[in-house]
Amino acid sequence: MKLLEGKVAIITGGAKGMGEFHTKKMVEEGAKVVIGDLDVENGEKLAKELGKEQAIFVKLDVTQPDSWANIVQVTKDTFGTIDILVNNAGLAGAITGLLDIEEGLYKKIIEINQDGTFYGMRAVLPTMVEKNSGSIINISSLAGLRHDITVNPAYTASKFAIRGLTKQAAYEFADKNIRVNAVLPGAILTPMAEATLTKEQIDDVSNTLLPMKRFADPKEVSELVVFLASDKASYISGGDYVIDGARATINK
Ligand SMILES: NC(=O)c1ccc[n+]([C@@H]2O[C@H](COP(=O)([O-])OP(=O)(O)OC[C@H]3O[C@@H](n4cnc5c(N)ncnc54)[C@H](O)[C@@H]3O)[C@@H](O)[C@H]2O)c1
Repeated sequence: MKLLEGKVAIITGGAKGMGEFHTKKMVEEGAKVVIGDLDVENGEKLAKELGKEQAIFVKLDVTQPDSWANIVQVTKDTFGTIDILVNNAGLAGAITGLLDIEEGLYKKIIEINQDGTFYGMRAVLPTMVEKNSGSIINISSLAGLRHDITVNPAYTASKFAIRGLTKQAAYEFADKNIRVNAVLPGAILTPMAEATLTKEQIDDVSNTLLPMKRFADPKEVSELVVFLASDKASYISGGDYVIDGARATINK
């Protein structure tokens, strides 16, 4: 039997980057997936590729509670329920210091990464409480565990906050059989990273910052996300799951 047979998932930011890999892996494992993203073109293309029995696209702005109410309703109308939420949509922004970051960008990053995760959990939890089961995976970052030289203060603050919200929800809903975990990826070679970094830059970061001397393939993160979403992880809740090829063992 496939790991997620019969389960229904909402994946935010599921249209591209790591979210696209999570979407494909969940479908491969038997889940029906609702791709929630602002990116209509890529979201519709991916849903079409996977087939409407397995995946649909719903335009979602994670910063808007009304938009969340809509995706929850469409998911229930189409697939009947919600078993899994992956809060993956995120914005990194340019690398800056505390004094340099533009206030508007600071607020936008907090709104998408932190508030979006909060609104997402609030939107799906009543359905999960009603059915007495569910799994929520909130995508934080290695930058949510310790200072990271490759990001900005808003990203750091939001990714730490996601871990806090995860623990709050895990505790509050543990007796409702709802599990909530945070995943903290290190350097992942998403198509976006490949498009923005030259081959030389990728090699340089790999050799100087990464103990395994390579970025992760996004599929390696999907394996962890799918496991946490599945019933195999039945006693795993409230945790921080670092997936960084041992990068956090060194102070770089
Ligand atoms: N790439 C990495 O190395 C890395 C490392 C650690 C953590 N992460 C985290 O993993 C997640 C995915 O990262 P990625 O590299 O695939 O990013 P990405 O930029 O490739 O994809 C992000 C997706 O989120 C969507 N999105 C942005 N704002 C949205 C909004 N308001 N509402 C709905 N959707 C929105 C985008 O359209 C896009 O499809 C993010 O939370 C990121 O912070 C990434």
